[in-house]
Amino acid sequence: MKKQEISVSILDCNFNDIENEIAKINNSSCDYIHVDVMDGKFVPNIAFDDKTINKVNLYSTKKIDYHLMVKNPKDYITKCAKNNAEIISVHYEENDNVYNDLISIKSLGCKAGLAINPSTKISEVSKLFKYIDILLLMSVQPGKGGQKFLNSTFKKIINTKKLIQEMNYKIKIEIDGGIDNKVSKKLFDLGSNILVSGSYIIKNKNLDSAIISLRD
Ligand code: DX5
Ligand code: ZN
Repeated sequence: MKKQEISVSILDCNFNDIENEIAKINNSSCDYIHVDVMDGKFVPNIAFDDKTINKVNLYSTKKIDYHLMVKNPKDYITKCAKNNAEIISVHYEENDNVYNDLISIKSLGCKAGLAINPSTKISEVSKLFKYIDILLLMSVQPGKGGQKFLNSTFKKIINTKKLIQEMNYKIKIEIDGGIDNKVSKKLFDLGSNILVSGSYIIKNKNLDSAIISLRD
């Protein structure tokens, strides 16, 4: 069976007890820790100063999946690469340098992810497929955890999968936002490879059973 990967978003976890929060994730069966970086410009919120990013890297034994919701990703890319990034995703929107960003992520030895908002059309970004390993489809508006999953994502996954196959690329599809065990099976069935989940997992008393419930 194809691997169904889970990336746990730590946006809503308790940062006063970050070591313990990460230890719980380390002991679970998830595949990645998802780190949402926000600059207060691309999205209104600000998340994760350098100190926190360093701490996450220090404590984590999981691969780190950085999601950059920032206006100018360049400096952040270097920082994330230094902090053991497995994946670095940059947004397509409001970024004139997205091509250079993707190239620089690859040159730093990380997997390059392209993140797109719910309103961005897949046909608009297919020209960049050549340069990416991951396509991150937002299933909520970027900016905060705990939002409702957008059902329009299902159709978008079908179209994305089809286009990737037609163009003959090996790109993983990652879905981010509002994911719980009610939608996860369908998302995997439609061909998603990585599901990001934050509030559903973090608010569950037993973290690992929540993670298991997202898989088949
Ligand atoms: C939203 C973030 C997501 C979010 C996921 O902007 O990119 O990663 O934290 O959290 P939930 O699962 O609560 O939507
Ligand atoms: Zn995210």
